[in-house]
Amino acid sequence: MSLAVFERTSVHSHIKGLGIRNGKPLKIGDGLVGQEEARKAAWIVVQMIRQGRMAGRGVLLVGPPGTGKTALAIAIAKELGEDTPFVSLSGSEIYSAEMKKTEVLTRAMRRAIGVRVHEFRRIMEGVVKKIDVKLGSHPYNPYQQIPVGGTITLATKDDEKTLRVSGDFVQELLAKGVSEGDVIMIDLETYRVYRQGRAKGSGDYDIYGTRTVEVPSGSIEKEREFVYTVTLHDLDMMHSRAGSILSLFFGAEEKEISPEVRQRVDETVKSWVDGGKAELLPGVLFIDDVHMLDIEAFSFLSRAMESELAPIIILASNRGFTKIRGTDIVSPHGLPRDLLDRLLIIKTRQYTRDEIKEILKIRAKEDKIELSEDALEKLAGYGVKESLRYAAQLMIPAKIIAQRENKSKVDAVAVEEAAKLFLSMSGSAKYLREMEEAFLK
Ligand SMILES: Nc1ncnc2c1ncn2[C@@H]1O[C@H](COP(=O)(O)OP(=O)(O)OP(=O)(O)O)[C@@H](O)[C@H]1O
Ligand SMILES: [Mg+2]
Repeated sequence: MSLAVFERTSVHSHIKGLGIRNGKPLKIGDGLVGQEEARKAAWIVVQMIRQGRMAGRGVLLVGPPGTGKTALAIAIAKELGEDTPFVSLSGSEIYSAEMKKTEVLTRAMRRAIGVRVHEFRRIMEGVVKKIDVKLGSHPYNPYQQIPVGGTITLATKDDEKTLRVSGDFVQELLAKGVSEGDVIMIDLETYRVYRQGRAKGSGDYDIYGTRTVEVPSGSIEKEREFVYTVTLHDLDMMHSRAGSILSLFFGAEEKEISPEVRQRVDETVKSWVDGGKAELLPGVLFIDDVHMLDIEAFSFLSRAMESELAPIIILASNRGFTKIRGTDIVSPHGLPRDLLDRLLIIKTRQYTRDEIKEILKIRAKEDKIELSEDALEKLAGYGVKESLRYAAQLMIPAKIIAQRENKSKVDAVAVEEAAKLFLSMSGSAKYLREMEEAFLK
């Protein structure tokens, strides 16, 4: 996950699900507060997804800024299962200098579909009893000695084998820091080494810094099942790299992945699924500020929703009537009518003061900030007067101010000072108006 994505989602880290029990929303549950109507609707969407009744359709979340649209989208993904891929994109991100708009969207869609692959591989596994390294001189530097081969003795509880190995393999062992007493696994297809930990009871140290593991039993060479999750986009990248020898050597990033590559990936994945080797994990593609997309992107999305391998698409907008980008047509949320027609639309509403207070309490707990009762009241006041986000954002500066004063809790004075130092949106507009003359035009 990129840092930007991490930062973007960390303000929602308190959200664990929709907070619905027996089909009814709890007042506060799974980190969500209030917004009961929208949560009930979202829960029904989750049931539709589970029953496979969302094909060709999407979800649109509409409501004023800071009313929990992004929070709800994340909650839907969480409700679908911890493993559900969640990809978030802001409408404006499709305008990039390097890629076509449809390529950005396609990539995002394919990152939102997971493939859980089961694979049997032949491996060797055991505790390293002995490593013998044979040194020879470097081919280009006679004064330097390098490993040119050796033997390694592996053992399980029931088996023991001494293997002759190449110089490259010894280098790999050394690079991984493998020493006698380690339990290792060797993949017999790639000859890669995985160090699994220290074997129990094989040490001289009190603290290894690595975990200790049981000495494996059975024979050294065996077949093992591996399960890992990749996305369709990961597979696209692997195939398109393999397709071009030059990109292998020079590491050139493919500007665009060809439709043929994607088709091959789709066919391969389908054959894995048919053969019981893989399962598909359709995730959620969340497009925020969807009014920033343009008419081309909208028609692409409508078509993409119908495709066989499509994620659940959740759109969000905080705009009212506005122009559809790329046209002169004014439409609700700037979305074309035929797209609107395919969407289940869920609205969010403004929070009451009490709800704001509860959300701020949850956020404070998540960020490990102790608030005094009057600090919470003060923040709730800013939440009502300015915005929920502004109030939430004041908490960390207020904590630093309180720390500076050696106070263990954030009090109202610290909140007030933070609010004085950091302008809200309306505060900065007011400041601009007052100072209009002094700014560059
Ligand atoms: N009902 C809620 N329960 C708990 N936390 C919430 C709730 N609604 C919003 N939040 C939190 O408040 C903050 C603002 O909400 P969010 O980002 O979801 O708003 P939004 O509707 O997506 O706004 P925008 O239109 O500006 O994108 C986030 O940190 C979010 O996790
Ligand atoms: Mg949002």
